[in-house]
Amino acid sequence: MRYIRFLKTPKIQDNSVKTTITVTSDLGETFLNAEIDLIATLQCVDDPYQTHLRQTLRWRPGLRALPVTFPIVGKIIKWPCSVHVSLVQPSDYDAFENREDASSLPSVVSVWSDGLDPPNRIATTPRIAERRFKLLNGRVLRMWEETGESIARHLWFVFASSRLSVLTLITNRDGGIALTAYVDRMITSQIDQRLLHEESVGSPPAKRLNIIELGCGCGMVGISLAQSLSDCQVLLTDMPEAEEIACQNLAIMDPLSSSRAAFVTLDWEEPLPKVVAEQEFDLVVVSECTYNTDTIPALVQTLSALARRSPNAIVLLSTKVRHSSESIFFDLMQKTNLLKVGHTELPLPKDASSDDDPEVIHVYIFQGKEAVNSILSRRDGKPRIDFLPPQ
Ligand SMILES: C[S@@+](CC[C@H](N)C(=O)[O-])C[C@H]1O[C@@H](n2cnc3c(N)ncnc32)[C@H](O)[C@@H]1O
Repeated sequence: MRYIRFLKTPKIQDNSVKTTITVTSDLGETFLNAEIDLIATLQCVDDPYQTHLRQTLRWRPGLRALPVTFPIVGKIIKWPCSVHVSLVQPSDYDAFENREDASSLPSVVSVWSDGLDPPNRIATTPRIAERRFKLLNGRVLRMWEETGESIARHLWFVFASSRLSVLTLITNRDGGIALTAYVDRMITSQIDQRLLHEESVGSPPAKRLNIIELGCGCGMVGISLAQSLSDCQVLLTDMPEAEEIACQNLAIMDPLSSSRAAFVTLDWEEPLPKVVAEQEFDLVVVSECTYNTDTIPALVQTLSALARRSPNAIVLLSTKVRHSSESIFFDLMQKTNLLKVGHTELPLPKDASSDDDPEVIHVYIFQGKEAVNSILSRRDGKPRIDFLPPQ
């Protein structure tokens, strides 16, 4: 998957709206090396169907940045306006295309800026950008993420307990989007949503489904669950640095009836906060959190502590393996009270510039050993794999 990003977020300069975009991989470490046509529009924030200005752009192999300029002199424009850049068919969102195909992810993810509003002296936009995905139930999942003038800003170097580690923020990554699409497909393809509660999550349907997301970043997976499942309660958790962007996304979410979501700080290096320790969860979601071997032991400890308090909980974890040392996560998980009960691979859309095999996102399911044994005995030893669609 490739992501259109603002290298320079839009601003008003010389009687024009100016911005610079790029098209990169999720971490921004490689640029798209193929020719694609893009369309940039200046559109009214309050009425996205009102497009004031539009221009086509061509991204070519070898490019690293592409300036975009909309002259606004003499134009009648209803402010505030945002800039939207997408593949040539502009749409109000990117879509998770269909219910069957695991690879139905956008190949190039579109971007929206925050609003410019010169009459109200807003002539620059902050370093955030919005993604929009249409879930299979028709609701649009809106996600703000951080952006910046340098894509290197996506990598933060932090000193933690005298160790140097790399903390990757707070931008959507392939694994989070793929897990969101996967869970969305799984939920909407259930004929009766109670199946998800009863068979997969092991709690009676009358009970509100209690979900926690670890290392939520922008909060995409957890918020999408609140938009896809009725009667669920989602707790997004991450380091304090993620709170602002996660809460910004919580503020615009469109949850299903009687579902709700909130954010709380949870650092894997610390004991579980009281509000988490006091709850029993049905589902724990974790996406793209196993890339840093320094923090894996603390993550495993946190998962294990959650499983002790929530022995029936299912852990759903996605990862795009970026280096072999991440296998330490699975070695450490084997020493815990959690058992791997399922694994599937979700192919990512192939990059037009690459002949390589498509990259995949791995989704793993873990559950507490006691719960697995009790389910096996109830089912005559048949493995419980109904959380995964057929391959
Ligand atoms: C690559 S991001 C993944 C974000 C999101 N889940 C997604 O898929 O887009 C990894 C997340 O783990 C969080 N993280 C790293 N170390 C952590 C720790 N010790 N405690 C809690 N969260 C941590 C980071 O702040 C970051 O948001």
